[in-house]
Amino acid sequence: MTGVVVIGAQWGDEGKGRIIDWLSGQADLVVRYNGGHNAGHTLVVDGRIYKLALLPSGLVRGKPGVIGNGVVLDPFALFAEIERMRALGLDVGPHNLTIAETAALVLPIHRALDVEQEARRSPKLDTTLRGIGPAYEDKIGRRAIRVCDLADPTTLAAKLEALLAHHNLWLAAVGAPTFEFEPMLAQLMALAPTLLAHSGPAWQKLHTAQAQGQRILFEGAQAALLDVDWGTYPYVTSSNTVAAAAATGSGVGPNALQTVLGVCKAYTTRVGAGPLPTELDDATGTLLRERGNEYGTNTGRQRRCGWLDACLLRQSIAVSGITALALTKLDVLDSLSEIRICTGYILNGKHYDYMPAGLTEQAALQPQYEVLPGWLSPTAQARQWSDLPPAAQQYVARIEALTGVPVALLSCHPERDALICLRDPFAAAA
Ligand code: GDP
Ligand code: IMO
Ligand code: MG
Repeated sequence: MTGVVVIGAQWGDEGKGRIIDWLSGQADLVVRYNGGHNAGHTLVVDGRIYKLALLPSGLVRGKPGVIGNGVVLDPFALFAEIERMRALGLDVGPHNLTIAETAALVLPIHRALDVEQEARRSPKLDTTLRGIGPAYEDKIGRRAIRVCDLADPTTLAAKLEALLAHHNLWLAAVGAPTFEFEPMLAQLMALAPTLLAHSGPAWQKLHTAQAQGQRILFEGAQAALLDVDWGTYPYVTSSNTVAAAAATGSGVGPNALQTVLGVCKAYTTRVGAGPLPTELDDATGTLLRERGNEYGTNTGRQRRCGWLDACLLRQSIAVSGITALALTKLDVLDSLSEIRICTGYILNGKHYDYMPAGLTEQAALQPQYEVLPGWLSPTAQARQWSDLPPAAQQYVARIEALTGVPVALLSCHPERDALICLRDPFAAAA
């Protein structure tokens, strides 16, 4: 079997969805293994836009999908998304979507907790307010309701009662509305048959696929710098997002992950609070935002923009075992006469070739830049390496040299087939 993991190498929204969509052409199965509907993966296919949050992106190519145990699943959000995709002509049902029976649920009370926690936080984390953090807290706290619990009304009722009692205590103390047991139980019982029709031992499905030599694509959500251990804590999401999470979040061993493709924009963006050493609060930052349409897929929030940070990229590559990069949105840089790449930082007169862990240190980092010439010509029509202007080729080559990994895929346009393949990730994994 051949396994390719696709993860974000920055702070999310690098274009993972479109890379997965392209690679799905060669895959037998696509697995979402982490995060929840805080993710927003955009695919553009013949001008038609698909915005996916929970569904594996391979479904758009008709490839079967798995939602793994590492995902926190809001069943209401899932069913709404399935309806949206059906309205766009996609076929989604138990025959092509398997949900791990051990995935933890995101419930309306988690959303309320996310909102109430964020309202009281200073400084704010700018979460997506989807209930993701509180749902992972419950999973680690061993209180979570899991998909399989819906098949057992007695267990479900007992667990729900305990869960609501636990959280209502805090909600009441801060003067927020509390949640009632009966209506919540009734809602869960109503959706149980449909959810259970999709659920099962997803790990076994993957195991069988492995045994049959199938090609499995692991679709990461969020990104390495949002990882709860490896990201810019506490300005991170509440789960592991590095490549290793593909194994624990789906039920395969680490030896099933042969190739780790890190998706990376030709510059840097971040939505929400937290350090961003190369941030541009000037006309160039605005230009990147407008040309790159840097507004959140799900939440519509403005993304902060800055130069590419090769120093942080090296860090993401190291902690995730990234073997190749997929570089997206090169076209956004078309109109710049010079382009900067951060190669390291200066802090208190000392040079750093990594991001120090302390919050105060992170806020004071001065990025060190290398300046490269821009290409000042449109690249949106480029479909092969030789179509790129020499200065654009030089920029890509410099990223490879600074990070020590090759660029396997390159894109200058969001459309499905506008991807330049320099080396085939599946062939590299075989
Ligand atoms: P994901 O969360 O990593 O899947 O990324 P998002 O879908 O949230 O954000 C990436 C955005 O960039 C989407 O709107 C894509 O359509 C768009 N995009 C992807 N690749 C390119 C590219 O090469 N050029 C341009 N201009 N847009 C791109
Ligand atoms: P995709 O898969 C970008 C960010 C939020 C916030 C922080 C914590 O589309 O790349 P959370 O709701 O997860 O507790 O919020 O993480 N965040 C993302 N930023 N892309 C994402 O997903 C994100 N998922 C979470 O903005 O700063
Ligand atoms: Mg996104």
